[in-house]
Amino acid sequence: MRKLSQWNPERILFRPNKTSFVPVILITFTLPPFQNCLYYWGFAAWLAYYINHPLYTPPSYGKKQINFAVIMFLLCEAGNFSIHVALSDLRRDGSKTRKIPYPTKNPFTWLFFFVSCPNYTYEVGTWISFTIMTQCVPVGLFTLLCFIQMTIWAKDKHYTYLREFKDYPSVRMPIIPFLL
Ligand SMILES: NC(=O)c1ccc[n+]([C@@H]2O[C@H](COP(=O)([O-])OP(=O)(O)OC[C@H]3O[C@@H](n4cnc5c(N)ncnc54)[C@H](OP(=O)(O)O)[C@@H]3O)[C@@H](O)[C@H]2O)c1
Repeated sequence: MRKLSQWNPERILFRPNKTSFVPVILITFTLPPFQNCLYYWGFAAWLAYYINHPLYTPPSYGKKQINFAVIMFLLCEAGNFSIHVALSDLRRDGSKTRKIPYPTKNPFTWLFFFVSCPNYTYEVGTWISFTIMTQCVPVGLFTLLCFIQMTIWAKDKHYTYLREFKDYPSVRMPIIPFLL
């Protein structure tokens, strides 16, 4: 058995042999990117299994429901994209500082009037649209988990804004206008 002091990361990563695969696998499993991939790819596979199953039943209101959900989905994606453009414009000078994001001429960014993290609001909207589109319980469960996760992050970001900026707009909520 190799002593702990003999585990050399450089040797393990660039000159692997039979025994060095064990720590590589152990380290990989504990890395956040791996856990992220497992979470998202795991859910993607699970949802795809249900949606593409031969016994899958189409949504109750058929094409009308699907078309409505597709439009909602695309609008939310456009909103999410617009928010990311607005956020990246805050760092046009290449700085790393965080500033207060404000609505721009693009109507999709007007959600900034009401919430601190409109990109999360739009992301939740995207998944609600997909739930309506597929009318599938596992998709609804994934949407719920996304909502819980993003609410936690949005609250965190919101309170950081309140701490950092004395003039932060008081009407803004973390993720859902006037509510949450
Ligand atoms: N489905 C899900 O479960 C799920 C969960 C989370 C996210 N997402 C998706 O992934 C996207 C990205 O998520 P994220 O958590 O990375 O979003 P984020 O924290 O809002 O960050 C997006 C980018 O904007 C920058 N930024 C944020 N606030 C800023 C400010 N006040 N001033 C200057 N720059 C600022 C961030 O820089 P810094 O890195 O320096 O903060 C980052 O580069 C989301 O929009 C959402 O669509 C999906």
